Amino acid sequence: MDILSLLIFILPCYVANAAPVLLGGGAPMDLGASLGDGRRILGDAKTVRGFVGGVAAGTAVGGMLALFLPLAFFAGAWMQFLSGFLLSLGALFGDAAGSFVKRRMGLEPGKPFILDQAGFIIMGLMFAYPVAHGMYTVGGVVFLLALSWLLHLSTNVAANRFGLKRVPW
Ligand code: CTP
Ligand code: MG
Repeated sequence: MDILSLLIFILPCYVANAAPVLLGGGAPMDLGASLGDGRRILGDAKTVRGFVGGVAAGTAVGGMLALFLPLAFFAGAWMQFLSGFLLSLGALFGDAAGSFVKRRMGLEPGKPFILDQAGFIIMGLMFAYPVAHGMYTVGGVVFLLALSWLLHLSTNVAANRFGLKRVPW
């Protein structure tokens, strides 16, 4: 799989992961509830608006790409659109799952943890696998994981500098 196709393929996942920083806020997804360990299920950094906005933004970008930059790999625009939706849903799901694990470990929101950079891309790729597995060569997946890591780190530093995020990760 060539790099340009991989980048077009994965873009919805990145948009979905980044959008909540701008679109998030309001009620937390866990509605403030805690588990038996006395810690929040997900915490205040995972909001309903962030989740829905992230999935919507990633899906919208995936739809635009399906129309204007169709990938030969997909059997039509609808499949590429579906791939974008699944990448986005997986990204937000992985992000929330990472927060769940952090809370169980007693790490507060804002504390750095490896899942901050890895959860969204791993889950995004897993969710989209049923419709896009032909794109998943070993080299391609390793490339996307490495790229995501670097992008997530650098964009979060930038978001912090511009006052969009409290912490640079
Ligand atoms: N955000 C949101 N809803 C989501 C995900 C993110 O509103 N489902 C917004 C929140 O404003 C959050 C910001 O995006 O503060 C950054 O998210 P993230 O980096 O995941 O926050 P963390 O500080 O890492 O929190 P956690 O430890 O829960 O991952
Ligand atoms: Mg996080």
